[in-house]
Amino acid sequence: MNPNLTIKSAEYVTSAVKRGQYPPADLPEVAFAGRSNVGKSSLINCLVRRKKLVRTSRTPGRTQTLNFFVINQAFYFVDLPGYGFARVPESVRLQWGPMVETYLTERKSLRGVVQIMDARRPPTPDDLQLWNWLRVNRVPAIAVLTKADKLPRGKRTTSQAHAAQSLAVPAEEIVLFSAESGQGRQHLLERLVKWLDISDTSPAENS
Ligand code: GTP
Ligand code: MG
Repeated sequence: MNPNLTIKSAEYVTSAVKRGQYPPADLPEVAFAGRSNVGKSSLINCLVRRKKLVRTSRTPGRTQTLNFFVINQAFYFVDLPGYGFARVPESVRLQWGPMVETYLTERKSLRGVVQIMDARRPPTPDDLQLWNWLRVNRVPAIAVLTKADKLPRGKRTTSQAHAAQSLAVPAEEIVLFSAESGQGRQHLLERLVKWLDISDTSPAENS
């Protein structure tokens, strides 16, 4: 199987808060989770090579719904609202848990979660809480350390080793990523292809 994945199309489908608002569970799906402002939307845009498919912003806490995108008409990517941002209104914070938990436990077509953390700091208590919750609930998960470009090269593997220790996974399973440079893009796509059961025999994209 050719592990490469050529992105032919990527479109916004819908935003949802309640389960009745999700699109039909007719395609395999991967969700992206992480703290507010960690770089979830930028990572999705980088994976699909569309600069503005998903709105990014300097203001944390902008994404407060589950946002569904369909890729190649073959699978969904879901941008989950960020957690851990203190300045969102109380009502929004209280809604986050049930909204995301309902989605993660009930979505039949969910193949796994990409959990995005900041390469510059150790996983936060919020990060560990989600990571352990995914484990306990047997939701497959991939840990990604993003904004790796903001760290000197030598510190990237150190950060990967520290994260491996606190997440209790082998270091090589943690993806070092940068939406700026594209570092880790191919590695992450290869892992996602396995989850999504899609093979792609068309030639690899450049880089
Ligand atoms: P919310 O939706 O608000 O929770 O944020 P988010 O997690 O989707 O983060 P977003 O992708 O909007 O990125 C937040 C900020 O970080 C933006 O200013 C991005 O340009 C910047 N950023 C994201 N990824 C990277 C990266 O890999 N490298 C660098 N240098 N900056 C990044
Ligand atoms: Mg976002």
